[in-house]
Formats: sequence, structure tokens, C-alpha cells
Amino acid sequence: MAFGASGGRGGFGRGGGGGGRGGARTILEPHRHPGVFIAKGKDHMLVTKNLVPGESVYGEKRISIEAADSHVPGANGVNGNGKDGDGPVEGTKTEYRVWNPFRSKLAAGVLGGLDEIYIRPGAKVLYLGAASGTSVSHVADIVGPEGAVYAVEFSPRSGRDLINMAKKRTNVIPIVEDARLPNKYRMLLPIVDVIFADVAQPDQARIVVHNAESFLKDLGHVVISIKASCVDSTVPPETVFASEVQFLKEHQFKPLEQVTLEPYERDHAMVTARYYRHTPLPPPDKK
Ligand SMILES: C[S@@+](CC[C@H](N)C(=O)[O-])C[C@H]1O[C@@H](n2cnc3c(N)ncnc32)[C@H](O)[C@@H]1O
Repeated sequence: MAFGASGGRGGFGRGGGGGGRGGARTILEPHRHPGVFIAKGKDHMLVTKNLVPGESVYGEKRISIEAADSHVPGANGVNGNGKDGDGPVEGTKTEYRVWNPFRSKLAAGVLGGLDEIYIRPGAKVLYLGAASGTSVSHVADIVGPEGAVYAVEFSPRSGRDLINMAKKRTNVIPIVEDARLPNKYRMLLPIVDVIFADVAQPDQARIVVHNAESFLKDLGHVVISIKASCVDSTVPPETVFASEVQFLKEHQFKPLEQVTLEPYERDHAMVTARYYRHTPLPPPDKK
């Protein structure tokens, strides 16, 4: 998809309800983003594979899928024996957690039609604005045991919940620090593949650039949720989004996609961009 606003919504109802138990059979299908799945029962629900089966993180629904109902490679002898894909081995069940776009901006961005989220199995992700870890827990499910999520949150109260969540999700490294001061957590981080940002601050773009300069690999990606009113409530949201994108362009980024987070979040956009740390920036696209 070319850079520019785009729509495209799934048929997910508010609350992501529907049943994992009883009623109609639920079939699991892979989403086009690796590590993300769609559970198709009475409703269609976005889900991630529970890294800690048997436990919810914030009261979200869990769904057990039998191998026979999974269309994920690796399941039931399809495309291998369960080792090649994310699917379950024949005769077993696998647990997934419902990922509600009203509670997670990344989920809203996925349903908003992002072509790429760059957060995939094995990825190292720096997550700025982790809050109590609701969305972070799904990112941890997606990157899986081979990946890692370095989750930065400066509120001590939210940080406590985040630390508790990370006790079981050992691929989450909670960092209770100010994202404006990456030097404070430099010793905890390797170079990362992706930075996800949702700090809802007027200087978020500057915070992202500062963290990219410290930790993002050459040609790595950023995925940024922008809440227009947090940046400037006196101008139209589109003007805010454009100025945030312009800031990225001025700091070694090439913008790739922009989607609205409506109807899940008002006046929010999600923007993705690639970082040209060493590689020279390509010339701007011709209109
Ligand atoms: C919109 S909430 C994030 C919600 C979260 N991403 C989710 O989907 O569950 C923004 C969070 O960023 C945190 N935050 C704001 N400024 C920050 C900063 N400079 N450093 C670290 N965290 C910050 C806030 O405390 C708040 O928890």
C-alpha cells in the first residue's frame, strides 16, 4: 500500500465478544501478519497465541482451538509436523487470547488495514508507553520465545502491573523509566528491529527519534500511534499527522503507511516508517 490514509475494517464487534466455549465451532486462520490469527466462530476475533496457557492478563477471553480446527501451517500434519508453523500438533489444543482493538491501538492498526507491522515472531521490539502491559502482552505473544519486548513506562503505578505481567512472560523486559532519557536504560537494550510508540505526549516524535538514534537498527522500523489532541488540539488532526510525519522525514526516516484508528479510537492515526541510520535515504516518491 502506498503511503497515505487508508481504511479497511474487519467485522469485529465492540468488546470482541463471541464464544470460545459451546455454541458454534471456532476455526483458527492465520492473519497476514505472522504471529497474529483470526478466530472465526459466531464472530470474527483477532487473537494471539497465549505464551502462558491457562492465564489471562487483563480479563481477556481465551479460546482453545483443536488442531483439527486450525488452518495454521504446522497443524494437523499440514505443512509439517507441528514444528514448522505456529499451529498445534495433531490431537492437541492450543490456547489463544482475544485481542480487542478497543483496548489496544496496535490491534486497531491491524484492523485499520496496516500492510505491515514489522512485529513478528523472533523480533526484538522496543515498546514506548507500555502502561500496565495490556498491549505489550499481545506483542509478547506475537514475537514469541525467540523474540523480546523491551517495555518502557514511566508511571510507577502502571510499572508495577507491567513488572507483574513480565514475571510470567519472560520475553518482556519491563523498564520503569522516562522514554525521554534513553541513556538511563541503554545498558538493558540491544539494537532492536522495531520501535512501537504510544506515549501520547506532544513531543512523541522527538522521543521516537531519540530512541531510534540509540537503539534502532539500520533499515529497522517504527510504528507510531498518534493522538492528534495530545500533540496540538488547535489544528485539524490531519495537520497534526502531517507535521509528525514531516518530523520523521527530517530525521532519517522514510514514511511507509498511515491508517486511521477509527472507529476504535477517535482522531488517532498509526504511522509506520523505515529508519535510514547508515543506508542513504532513497529519493522521495514522485506524486
Ligand atoms: C496511551 S497510554 C499507552 C497504552 C498502551 N500502549 C496500551 O495500548 O495498552 C500512554 C502511556 O505512556 C506513558 N508515558 C507517557 N510519557 C512517557 C514517557 N516520557 N516515558 C515513559 N512512558 C510514558 C503513560 O504513563 C501511559 O501509561
